[in-house]
Amino acid sequence: NENVHVLGIETSCDETAAAVVKNGKEILSNVVASQMESHRRFGGVVPEIASRHHVEQITLVMEEAMRQAGVSFSDLDAIAVTAGPGLVGALLVGVNAAKALAFAHGLPLVGVHHIAGHIYANQLVAEMKFPLLALVVSGGHTELVYMEGHGAFQVIGETRDDAAGEAYDKVARALGLPYPGGPHIDRLAHEGEPVIDLPRAWLEEGSYDFSFSGLKSAVLNALHNAKQRGEEIDPRQMAASFQASVVDVLVTKTVQAAKEYGVRQVLLAGGVAANRGLRAALQEKMKELPDVELVIPPLSLCTDNAAMIAVAGTVLYQQGKRADLALNANPSLPL
Ligand code: KG4
Ligand code: ZN
Repeated sequence: NENVHVLGIETSCDETAAAVVKNGKEILSNVVASQMESHRRFGGVVPEIASRHHVEQITLVMEEAMRQAGVSFSDLDAIAVTAGPGLVGALLVGVNAAKALAFAHGLPLVGVHHIAGHIYANQLVAEMKFPLLALVVSGGHTELVYMEGHGAFQVIGETRDDAAGEAYDKVARALGLPYPGGPHIDRLAHEGEPVIDLPRAWLEEGSYDFSFSGLKSAVLNALHNAKQRGEEIDPRQMAASFQASVVDVLVTKTVQAAKEYGVRQVLLAGGVAANRGLRAALQEKMKELPDVELVIPPLSLCTDNAAMIAVAGTVLYQQGKRADLALNANPSLPL
């Protein structure tokens, strides 16, 4: 039997997720238990609450993933788990569950980097063609990653302060929108026009790094000043203007890097990849590179899930990479 079945486990933030993927391409199950409701009233993810929910959910979620996939542990070739980065108390739940299962069933264990998972979500919808460039935009990350082959990650740009999703969530909060705010800003942005002049942080010439805290502060200041003057800012116009600034910088730098590095493919990954404005703008700008394929996974594979961890885990497993039972959660694991 040359088929490879991998169980993926992901608990780095506020989703408890398990999935079974066949041959790194075919999803047999993809179970996600979201804790979003529990964190909403705090306006962000509370680490203690996240850990507790993961402990309560992990066994159920793994069992459900196995049941839906219709496989037993003897059918599995490996167990892959997110080892970092993320919230340490949250990561530990998944890592310990994976170690326990690997030990109990005598299965190889593979530790996966969360961002590698986001990038490899793309392999569920397209064959990866190297060299490629991935734009990873999530609540915790904003990175441009260049890859010459499987498992070879080179970070050519990253955020120097807030992640793109973090900026979305903070601006949303200032506009009185619920957490997580990204989807709400996205919706409002489509009802408004980008008429408010906001900064774009291009940084030094040729840099692929990002910075969103100045933009975030500009929005907060504009809202504050308007309130002081007793004026109203239309939230749709603010959302549209903020989104235009974020998307402009992300898309411009991505396409510039794709040209410089001569890639064959551009991949979009992470929760903010669900953004309609970003997807549309990147599709449009990529017309400048007609020979480069743009891959954008469906929304359910952009936000945190375990299928992506199983895919990245399959690639590492096939490369002979193994973790042992000393595997530990690393909240600042480098890619
Ligand atoms: O990848 P993800 O699910 O979790 C992390 O690893 O961080 O990303 C979550 C982030 C949140 O900041 C959320 O507001 C943002 O993705 N997000 C969006 C959209 N959908 C989710 N941001 C902008 N537009 C969206 N449609
Ligand atoms: Zn993520």
